[in-house]
Amino acid sequence: MPDVFARPIDASTRYCAVYGFPVRHSASPAMHNAGLAALGLNWRYLAFAVPPVQLQEALRGAAAMRFVGVNLTVPHKVLAVEMMDVLDASARLWGAVNTVRFEGLRADGHWEPLGQWSAEAEPEQVRMQGFNTDADALVQALQEELGWQAKGSRVLLLGAGGAGRVAALKLAAEGVAQLFLVNRTMEKAAAVAEEIRARYPGCAVTLGYPEGTVDLLVNATSLGLRAEDPLPLDPTRFPLERAGAVYDMIYRPAETPLLARAARAGCRVANGLGMLLYQGTRALEIWSGRPAPVEVMRRALREHVYGG
Ligand SMILES: NC(=O)c1ccc[n+]([C@@H]2O[C@H](COP(=O)([O-])OP(=O)(O)OC[C@H]3O[C@@H](n4cnc5c(N)ncnc54)[C@H](OP(=O)(O)O)[C@@H]3O)[C@@H](O)[C@H]2O)c1
Repeated sequence: MPDVFARPIDASTRYCAVYGFPVRHSASPAMHNAGLAALGLNWRYLAFAVPPVQLQEALRGAAAMRFVGVNLTVPHKVLAVEMMDVLDASARLWGAVNTVRFEGLRADGHWEPLGQWSAEAEPEQVRMQGFNTDADALVQALQEELGWQAKGSRVLLLGAGGAGRVAALKLAAEGVAQLFLVNRTMEKAAAVAEEIRARYPGCAVTLGYPEGTVDLLVNATSLGLRAEDPLPLDPTRFPLERAGAVYDMIYRPAETPLLARAARAGCRVANGLGMLLYQGTRALEIWSGRPAPVEVMRRALREHVYGG
């Protein structure tokens, strides 16, 4: 594990950060600072509790201080869309920003990521470009950890909040044949279903539990974060034996009651740590223009979240 303090902070140190509200639980500083140290970059990654009403000011402040980039977590991802100067295709597509890249204007008129400017160069104009790395990260985790193949598959998705909506659209975009949506507030699931029908007509989307089996069940609700939470699904209406694989976006605790039950039912299971890792490695690549040290960041994340 690289020693993130081996290189002292000095006047050339550059900064990136995560903004959330609250943010104290965030594992991103541990993961990113390990990655930055492994890349030998004189950067640091910080965490700030930014109230939503001050998000715009906080982003402008980071731009003025020539930060390299910022990650956004709850409740900022949708709010930030309107605040960006430019949106990458990923942020436009999913309507949410989790990664901001600060870019400076070169004399020849092109915008270059600040992370790729030399320490001595001083851009006069800086803009913010918004990206979304969450959706790709989910699919990468599903493929690598569960061996899941999107094309033609049947998926049951629980939850239609911020993460659930992006997951549903991404799964449809990846070629899922049949998507079943379940959410406490079914109007929200119905709105997501409408959006999928309009944008991805090749995906048959149904509200409610499926008959028969599914290849994959994804929990995108927050049920399972607390020990006293009920299961995020009704097992009398959908017994877990009917799912080939179960992915829980929650990673703390490492094994939610849903995952424990799914493992007992013989399903392949994975928690949300991989998704968190890959959204972070992709953000670092967007900022630095270099391949992220994935294994170093994975180890740092595991150590921070589970203590080893
Ligand atoms: N691993 C990762 O990288 C990653 C990334 C993003 C999110 N997540 C996790 O995904 C989960 C959802 O995040 P989010 O950003 O989508 O949050 P959100 O926008 O607040 O949505 C919360 C979801 O959980 C449901 N829910 C909350 N309390 C419930 C209850 N008591 N009974 C039934 N359903 C309930 C909500 O249903 P209603 O619509 O009815 O309110 C909604 O579907 C969280 O656990 C978060 O930690 C993980």
